[in-house]
Amino acid sequence: MQDLKSMRMKQIATLLLFLFSTQLHQAQPGNVRIEKSVDSLLRLMTLEEKIGQMNQYNGPWAATGPLTNDGNLLDQVKTGKVGSMLNVTGVQRTSELQALALQSRLKIPLLFGQDVIHGYRTIFPIPLAEAASWDLAAMEAGARVAATEASAAGIHWTFAPMVDIARDPRWGRVMEGAGEDPYLGSLIAKARVKGFQGKGFGDTSAVMACAKHFAAYGAAVGGRDYNSVDMSLRQLHEVYLPPFKAAAEAGVATFMNAFNDLNGIPATGNAYLQRSLLKGDWKFRGFVVSDWGSIGEMIPHGYSANNKEAALQAVNAGSDMDMESRSYLPHLAALVKEGKVKMTVIDDAVRRILRKKFEMGLFADPYKFSSEQREKTQWNNQAHRKVAFEMAKKSMVLLKNEKNLLPLSKSTGRIALIGPFVKAKSDHNGFWSYDWPDDTTRIVSIWEGVQQKLNTGAALLYAKGCSITGDDRSGFAEAVETAQKAELVILTVGEARDMSGEAKSRSTIQLPGVQEELVKAIVATGKPVVVLISAGRPLVFNWTADNAPAILYTWWLGTEAGNAIADVLFGDYNPSGKLPMSFPRTEGQIPVYYNHYNTGRPATNDSDRFYRSAYTDLSIYPKYPFGYGLSYARFHYSDVRLSAKTLRPGQPIQAAVTLTNTSATGGTETVQLYIRDLTASVVRPVKELKGFQQVFLHAGESKEIRFSISPEDLRFYNDRLQYIWEPGKFRIFIGTSSMDVKEAEFELMR
Ligand code: GLC
Repeated sequence: MQDLKSMRMKQIATLLLFLFSTQLHQAQPGNVRIEKSVDSLLRLMTLEEKIGQMNQYNGPWAATGPLTNDGNLLDQVKTGKVGSMLNVTGVQRTSELQALALQSRLKIPLLFGQDVIHGYRTIFPIPLAEAASWDLAAMEAGARVAATEASAAGIHWTFAPMVDIARDPRWGRVMEGAGEDPYLGSLIAKARVKGFQGKGFGDTSAVMACAKHFAAYGAAVGGRDYNSVDMSLRQLHEVYLPPFKAAAEAGVATFMNAFNDLNGIPATGNAYLQRSLLKGDWKFRGFVVSDWGSIGEMIPHGYSANNKEAALQAVNAGSDMDMESRSYLPHLAALVKEGKVKMTVIDDAVRRILRKKFEMGLFADPYKFSSEQREKTQWNNQAHRKVAFEMAKKSMVLLKNEKNLLPLSKSTGRIALIGPFVKAKSDHNGFWSYDWPDDTTRIVSIWEGVQQKLNTGAALLYAKGCSITGDDRSGFAEAVETAQKAELVILTVGEARDMSGEAKSRSTIQLPGVQEELVKAIVATGKPVVVLISAGRPLVFNWTADNAPAILYTWWLGTEAGNAIADVLFGDYNPSGKLPMSFPRTEGQIPVYYNHYNTGRPATNDSDRFYRSAYTDLSIYPKYPFGYGLSYARFHYSDVRLSAKTLRPGQPIQAAVTLTNTSATGGTETVQLYIRDLTASVVRPVKELKGFQQVFLHAGESKEIRFSISPEDLRFYNDRLQYIWEPGKFRIFIGTSSMDVKEAEFELMR
């Protein structure tokens, strides 16, 4: 018996050596060669080894979810029971665990996954802030930097981009996405996937990206994280799926499913999403990882009786890898033996996972991403800070600037910096980021940014005023006194970095604590006040909005926050951000979003509020609309000019405006194109973003901005889920926000 076994072992070793290192293996075109390698390896694998590849554990050092330790993790790695690990970073740790995995019979390397959401060593603005830049190239560049830094630390796979459309700012994870619009969200999804995956798998600076959370996690009822989602398939296809489809079309390596139930079936066990749509219609060849524990969570969902049934439902529904619910490892083999899970289902899942490991080059060199030299180089890469600095400047949104209070002169006399964020450091990293020991020197605070900007030694005064939360007003007196000594006040308010993010839904999104009272006290001094608002979501701050002369929304901007904010405050960068989400006037107004339907009783202003689903005690408009953002420049839009009044297939029409910078300051404007289908077989939104162009104009400069429109741009999902266009009248809008537009009309003919 022993001879036979040792002979078999020798056969395997020979085949593996031949398979992964010979010229033959290199000679064939990539995908053919890889498919053959996958097939050959699959043939060697036992059922247990296959199931091991479908199992992902968290590392023993840090967790991003509830741990369910059961047995010796390291021993399971060594015996091929783990295919991937998450929250294992750094050359040393990844190398150690990889060496352990290579002691397994077939020496299949591990995949290391990590939430590199907006930067790894160099922290970028939170994704919602980046979305406010509308600068796709900048977002791609940011993801590229994140991938370069992460891949040097042994990370193969990031659980990003999060592409969940969200219309409810009470949901803490709006900070992680791209806002409320499917068109903008789709373009940003593509840009981020391209940035993370770079030159393609196998390149040592490319990491696998992961479109998450599939699907409609952002539509949780009440904005309460992990809550249920229920919507028509038409709404799902029209609003929530487009960014996922865009990510798939961009070649995203993996998908992650979601915690929520969708129309009564948990996303993790949802065959419509994962099999029919993703792997069927969309022909997705990557693999799907469950979200943390979401397979096991189908038990509390009331969808699975136990982990065994959860494993059965999840794997048959297309969830290929089990993140930390420990359901696949103990139960899949029995389910196959009982005939409840076909071996073809297991093989398909394992094939998808192995394919990625081959594509990443991990069989050829399991340690290729764990490079001490690269990690050291990336650890203090000044070029990366510059990319983050540029992104941070473009992410800020100027909400108000009465009497052109901004930009400030660098020769302003005494400036008082007041508020709980003036000297903050790690807060600027926002949620889903990494704290490093040298952050206190590495992250630029607002205080430091302004100081460095005013190196003329202009006197800077400081008072904290109050904390982010709590009702302690004892610092008000000192803050007021400090303001009175100054010529001008820069006042920082907002929410703490961990008040948005996962499991951070809030029922009230006002400025926390007594911060708005501090604003009132400082404004009451009569000094000019510039308010900076740091947050991971749209907040409600009506008194401040109505009474402070200047407001700059700074979100969370990452490592270079203070430098970027100082550049905008003192005019070295003219703010160009546009809101990717509507800002509600009150929580009661949520959900409020620009691309709503017209209803049978549309109110067109605040007086006839006895129509439409308007509140009798509130304006029908958001506090700040989607696409809104001011500049230090002034942009004038001419009327819309159409190349034709009718549009026919094959004969696109051009819509143009002349944009003029009527100010004395150069600036970038994001010209937005919206359409409205006036009559269709299903009701259509009053506006849909269908294009935008960013253009820099010097003072006094004019430029024609032109958009081409074809019937394909006007498609929508009808009540049979067909993606079609229909003839009829359309309105076209071009402008500086979803509410400030010039319009024209055309007719689409068959
Ligand atoms: C979390 C998040 C998911 C993340 C995963 C791993 O619960 O929902 O976005 O990628 O677990 O940290």
